Amino acid sequence: MAAVTLENVRKTYTGNVEAVRGVSLTIPNGSFTVLLGPSGCGKSTLLRMIAGLETITAGTCAIGDRIVNDIEPAERDIAMVFQNYALYPHMSVYDNMAYGLRNRRTPKDEIERRVAEAAKLLGIEEFLARKPRALSGGQRQRVAMGRAIVRDPQVFLFDEPLSNLDAKLRVSMRLEIRRLHNRLKATSIFVTHDQVEAMTLADQVVVMNGGQIEQVGAPTDVYRRPASKFVATFIGSPPMNLLPGKIVAPGQIEAGGGALAYDADAFDARVGAGVDIGIRAEDIVVGASGGMPFVHEFVEELGATRVIHGTVAGHPLEFVTPAAAELAAGNSLRVSAASPAAVHVFDPATGRSLRR
Ligand SMILES: Nc1ncnc2c1ncn2[C@@H]1O[C@H](COP(=O)(O)OP(=O)(O)O)[C@@H](O)[C@H]1O
Ligand SMILES: [Mg+2]
Repeated sequence: MAAVTLENVRKTYTGNVEAVRGVSLTIPNGSFTVLLGPSGCGKSTLLRMIAGLETITAGTCAIGDRIVNDIEPAERDIAMVFQNYALYPHMSVYDNMAYGLRNRRTPKDEIERRVAEAAKLLGIEEFLARKPRALSGGQRQRVAMGRAIVRDPQVFLFDEPLSNLDAKLRVSMRLEIRRLHNRLKATSIFVTHDQVEAMTLADQVVVMNGGQIEQVGAPTDVYRRPASKFVATFIGSPPMNLLPGKIVAPGQIEAGGGALAYDADAFDARVGAGVDIGIRAEDIVVGASGGMPFVHEFVEELGATRVIHGTVAGHPLEFVTPAAAELAAGNSLRVSAASPAAVHVFDPATGRSLRR
């Protein structure tokens, strides 16, 4: 196992497409790091540069203490699992898993041992003689993982490996991947656009946007202390509510036609400055005097909870209540933040958090 270190890595494709624009990042040895961001933000490009499947335009990529920019993919000691599984259709499951080891001239009994071990770990022992077409999507995904595991690589790379599975299977495979990681403890880099997948799998989440890193942190960090409006709205469902506001006194903000208290020690905001404030849907409380007048639009029933949709001062706002809670009828509601600590403050010009 090894750490992966990126220093100011860039990728410019022909036609001047800047897919990755200066990424510096350490993926600690043994960590499960998730690259998260919208489609087209450069996640796959970054992963493929680590794998050696794309050249690095500028900067360096090291696996362990070896810079690998000019090292062939096969010599990097990594294993990659793709979204489309990329299994050989004419080979049995056993041969698919053994293929890479045979190429490396691993002794036959060693191959047998490793394939049997990985098959047991993944619960696919009974399918070893079958061809991929005789397997379900979830079973094929397991074979693709098995093929990576038998290699016993320094680093596992995953590019949206669960995207082709139905919703239920995706959740169970996600838990399985996390369980596997807890056992194998191998350095893993996992690409996804799905924030729930990122939050549940990662030790370290790397939020990307437009070829750059927005924030790196533990799942709870990026959720509770988003470094930008982008992170605040990309992570969490429903996304964080954002409203324009103005600092009227230290610790006091005017927004949405009401007054809100925020933690003046936590944020570096001048009195008189225009800011954008953020409040998570579950951090909104109803009925506070002096709160923001709320215009109700509709209710989304989610079972255990409901999401109330509406506006304050013409800006959309959503909040979550337990399904059993009674809401006062009509448009006379006032809403506020549950506590000063629930109010996030952003610079409207840069979108960055003003957290000290
Ligand atoms: N081979 C290529 N040639 C030119 N542009 C590419 C190529 N591959 C990807 N891109 C562009 O680079 C950007 C990042 O793509 P990608 O890394 O695939 O994003 P993601 O995996 O986050 O969806 C996109 O704008 C995409 O169109
Ligand atoms: Mg991709």
